[in-house]
Amino acid sequence: MAIEPKSDERLERLERLRSQSRLGGGQERINQQHSKGKLTARERLDLVFDSGTFEEIDPFATHRTSDFGLANKRPPGDAVITGYGKINGRTVFAYAQDFTVLGGSVSETVGKKICKVMDLAMKTGAPVVGINDSGGARIQEGVLSLAAYGDIFLRNTLASGVVPQISVILGPSAGGAVYSPAITDFVFMVQGLSQMYITGPDVIKTVMGEEVTHEDLGGASAHGVKSGVAHFVYETEEECLNQLRRLLSFLPSNNMEDPPIPDIFDTTDRTDASLSDIVPREPNKSYDIREVMVRVVDNGDLMEVHQSYAPNIVVGFARMAGKSVGLVGNQPAYLAGVLDINASVKAARFIRFCDAFNIPIVTFIDVPGFLPGTDQEYGGIIRHGAKLIYAYAEATVPKVSVMIRKAYGGAYIVMSSKHLRGDINLAWPSVEIAVMGPEGAVNIIFREQIAKSDDPEKTRAELTKEYIDNFANPYVASSHGFLDDVIDPAETRPRLIKALEMLQNKRDSLPPKKHGNIPL
Ligand code: HXC
Repeated sequence: MAIEPKSDERLERLERLRSQSRLGGGQERINQQHSKGKLTARERLDLVFDSGTFEEIDPFATHRTSDFGLANKRPPGDAVITGYGKINGRTVFAYAQDFTVLGGSVSETVGKKICKVMDLAMKTGAPVVGINDSGGARIQEGVLSLAAYGDIFLRNTLASGVVPQISVILGPSAGGAVYSPAITDFVFMVQGLSQMYITGPDVIKTVMGEEVTHEDLGGASAHGVKSGVAHFVYETEEECLNQLRRLLSFLPSNNMEDPPIPDIFDTTDRTDASLSDIVPREPNKSYDIREVMVRVVDNGDLMEVHQSYAPNIVVGFARMAGKSVGLVGNQPAYLAGVLDINASVKAARFIRFCDAFNIPIVTFIDVPGFLPGTDQEYGGIIRHGAKLIYAYAEATVPKVSVMIRKAYGGAYIVMSSKHLRGDINLAWPSVEIAVMGPEGAVNIIFREQIAKSDDPEKTRAELTKEYIDNFANPYVASSHGFLDDVIDPAETRPRLIKALEMLQNKRDSLPPKKHGNIPL
């Protein structure tokens, strides 16, 4: 008869294994991680979750490979830490790749661990946070590790629009591995620490003859400014993870829930006479739309998404009367707020996120039109601009807008107009709506009259004034019901809040279909 070990021996074994698992790749590797200026996976999870709430799953899972000398390298937990805990009191699932174990590489077992928490998140309706710091597919496992990525990509796709998925890149994320973060809703990066690319500098040099550093190729600036892959970029890991917690505070746990409402929020009837002073009367003069936004939302709290990418449109989360809203606004301070390819794609994706997660959309309109030029046409502004129309038209969440100064041409229709199911469309009295700016319009429709007149400049000025008085104002659109009201700018906040309150039980739908065919 086998002798049963005493219970304290069992507990000692458990404790021994747990400590081993907690050490990941060992103290030396942990020191290496710190010497690179990086936190360990566990330190990161400590910063992500409310203190003491993280519950680990699968700390004793090990890989099954014996090839290439891996038989003796089988640390419990393998190269990822997975589990769940509370963020701001709500359940969130997470995984953090552990670079100290085989460079955080993704094995069959790592894939299974990640998929297990993703499945639980889907069953329970909770967000998933993935912290990426990995050399990619575990080379020794070949197709098994590729299969693991495939399993993750599938779950990323199925979870899209059901639970928020957020990727934090805190080290390398190379090769096909980048596609998991790319499918998720938001990507966070840290300057000097995060790198994402499909092929690294060495391959690029061999194949293309092009020399580029890791940082220039796939660092936080490359993706926060140029490619738009990163939605949020910060200087330190601590700041990054803190801002991740802030982002989650604006979001619901899943697509069937509403976002949380803070206990205390700003007064709802606050008017602000300074709003008129921020916006210059001249349609071509610049100002920062964010100054308008922060005065209108609760406590001036705006969490901008894609701050440095396509800054000609501003998107971000805020609250109005305590409830989360998604803000979209043309930015006259950059490229005069024109719509181009990147701005269209940026705003369209944001709107679709808000729509998927029951977050009303508030749009601030001051737009001169679409950017002309061969770059834009060859780049596909037609199909990219169409994404923005599609996103607004398809969205069934409450859509409220305020037109600030001007809306010309197709851009008038695109920006949450009544024609795309805008629910409440307000305008300031200074607004000009037209097919094009008054000078351009007069030059075309009165070309002959101006040419034949004794004083063409005087005639042009008179006709332009007449055009502005008669057509470039909010009252023509109002007379047709395309604008619901013209308001005193000072009243923007209370009027938007009343509209949002009225719309809170809004129900709208799309015709039955498998899915639409957004112009990708
Ligand atoms: C197995 C790996 C690994 C990997 C790193 N390691 N990447 N082990 N599979 N993919 C191991 C290293 O051998 C090393 O172990 C330890 O992790 C730390 O790595 P270092 O190279 O010392 O770290 P560092 O200098 O910081 O460089 C990090 C790195 C580099 C830039 C990520 O390790 C690297 O280039 N790795 C390979 C990246 C890669 O090509 N991966 C495949 C991408 S393709 P020892 O014991 O020697 O210290 C891919 C396809 C996915 O991922 C497809 C999905 C569809």
